[in-house]
Amino acid sequence: MAHGSDKTIRAEQIEQVEVTSWPGFGQKAKRHFTRWWWLHVLVFCVCFLITTLCLIYIGMPKIAQSGVDGSTMEFTDLQFLDPAPGFLTITQNAVLHSSSIFTPTLDPFKASLYLVTNDIFEPIPVTSLAIPRAHVLHPTSNISIVGQRVAIADLGQLTDFATQVLTLENVTTALTGKTKLHEGYLPVVDVHYNSSTTYQTLNGLKGFNITEVKLNLTAPDGEPNLHGSIYFPNPSVLTVALGNVTLSLATKVSGVVGNATLLNLTITPGNNTFPMAATLDQAKALASTDANGFMDVSITGTSVIYNGQHITYYEKALASNVLSLKLNVRQILADSE
Ligand SMILES: *[C@@H]1O[C@H](CO)[C@@H](O)[C@H](O)[C@H]1NC(C)=O
Ligand SMILES: *[C@@H]1O[C@H](CO)[C@@H](O)[C@H](O)[C@H]1NC(C)=O
Ligand SMILES: *[C@@H]1O[C@H](CO)[C@@H](O)[C@H](O)[C@H]1NC(C)=O
Ligand SMILES: *[C@@H]1O[C@H](CO)[C@@H](O)[C@H](O)[C@H]1NC(C)=O
Ligand SMILES: *[C@@H]1O[C@H](CO)[C@@H](O)[C@H](O)[C@H]1NC(C)=O
Ligand SMILES: *[C@@H]1O[C@H](CO)[C@@H](O)[C@H](O)[C@H]1NC(C)=O
Ligand SMILES: *[C@@H]1O[C@H](CO)[C@@H](O)[C@H](O)[C@H]1NC(C)=O
Ligand SMILES: *[C@@H]1O[C@H](CO)[C@@H](O)[C@H](O)[C@H]1NC(C)=O
Ligand SMILES: *[C@@H]1O[C@H](CO)[C@@H](O)[C@H](O)[C@H]1NC(C)=O
Repeated sequence: MAHGSDKTIRAEQIEQVEVTSWPGFGQKAKRHFTRWWWLHVLVFCVCFLITTLCLIYIGMPKIAQSGVDGSTMEFTDLQFLDPAPGFLTITQNAVLHSSSIFTPTLDPFKASLYLVTNDIFEPIPVTSLAIPRAHVLHPTSNISIVGQRVAIADLGQLTDFATQVLTLENVTTALTGKTKLHEGYLPVVDVHYNSSTTYQTLNGLKGFNITEVKLNLTAPDGEPNLHGSIYFPNPSVLTVALGNVTLSLATKVSGVVGNATLLNLTITPGNNTFPMAATLDQAKALASTDANGFMDVSITGTSVIYNGQHITYYEKALASNVLSLKLNVRQILADSE
C-alpha cells in the first residue's frame, strides 16, 4: 500500500515538473531564435555548402563517368573512302544520345576503334580516330568527323571488320579513349570513353541480281561479250569505295565460266545499280545451262584494285561472300538477238 502511494506521488510530481517547465523552455527558445536566427541560417548555409562542395568534388568524377557511360552513339552516315593498303579515309556523322541532365563538353581525344564480335572486344584496335571537341547536349547532339585519313592499325582486324560489314546484318564496333570533361565552373574531370554501337551493314548483299543482260555474239574471244547491270540494296548508312572490282562467275558443271568487271565501284546507302562488263566462255556457259535454259552461277569477288593497288582487306571480304544467282540464259539469248 505504502509503496503504491509513493509511486503515485512521484508520478504526479514529475507530471507537474514537466507541465510547468514547458512554457519556460518555449519562451526561451523563441527569444533565442528571435535574437540569433541569422546565426542559425548562416550555420545551415555553411553546412549545406560544405556538404554540397564535398559531394561535387568527391561525387563529380563518378557522376561525370556514369553520364559518359550512359551515352550512346548512333551513326547517321559512315563512309570509308579512298582505300589504300595502309590507309583509309573515314567520314562519320553520329548522333550522341545522352540521358544525363548535364550538358558537358568533352575535349578532343584520340579514340581507338575496336571490332566487337559476339559482345567480345577484339584484343587490338582496327584504327584510331581523332574525335573533335564535343558539346554533349540533352537529349541529343551531333558528332562529326569529315574526311579523316587514318592509318590502319591492324590489317587482320580491318579484314575481319570488312568481312563482317559485307556478310552480316548488323555489326558492333566500339570507340574507346581518355578525355577531359568540363561542366560549367565545376572541376575538370578525367573520363574514360568506351562506347559500343551496333549498326546495320550490307547483309551479304541480299537481293543481289544481274539485270538487263545482253550477250554480244560478235565480240572477239577474251573481250567482254556480256553487258548488264548489277543491282543490290544497301540497307545501311554505309558508303564504301571499293574501286575496280573483278568478279568470277562459276558453275558446278564447268567451274569458272567467266569474269565480270565493275569500274569505280562505290557502294552507297539505298539501291545500288552498276554497269557490268563480263567475259563469258559461251561453250562452258551453255554446257552448264539446264533444260529450261537456266544457269546456276556462283559469283565471287576476286580482285579489288584502287589507284593501281590491290586492296587485300576488301578482296578477302568479297572472297568470303559467295553470291548465287539463277541466270535465264535462254532469255538472255532471246534479248540479245
Ligand atoms: C544534327 O544532324 C542532323 C542530320 O544528321 C541535322 O538534321 C541536325 O540539324 C543536326 N543538329 C545540330 C544541332 O547540328
Ligand atoms: C539487327 O538489328 C535489327 C535492329 O536494328 C534487329 O531487328 C535484328 O534482329 C538484328 N539482327 C541480328 C542478326 O542481330
Ligand atoms: C570497354 O568496355 C568493355 C566492357 O564493356 C571491356 O571489355 C573493354 O575492355 C573496354 N575497353 C577499353 C579499351 O577500355
Ligand atoms: C533478277 O531480275 C530478274 C529480272 O531482271 C527477275 O526475273 C528475277 O526474279 C530477279 N532475281 C532475283 C533473285 O531477284
Ligand atoms: C559487240 O562487240 C563488238 C566487238 O567488240 C563491237 O564492235 C560491237 O559494238 C559490240 N556490240 C554491242 C551491241 O555492244
Ligand atoms: C577474264 O576472263 C578472260 C577470258 O577467260 C581472261 O582473258 C581475262 O584475263 C580475265 N580477266 C581477269 C581480270 O581475270
Ligand atoms: C574512275 O575514277 C577515276 C578517278 O577516280 C576517273 O579518272 C575515271 O574516269 C573513272 N572511271 C569511270 C569509268 O568512272
Ligand atoms: C529500291 O528498289 C526497290 C525495288 O527494287 C523499290 O521498291 C524501292 O523503293 C527502292 N528504294 C529506293 C530508295 O529507291
Ligand atoms: C579503274 O580502272 C580504270 C581503267 O583501267 C581507271 O581509269 C580508274 O582510275 C580505275 N579506278 C580506280 C579507282 O582505281
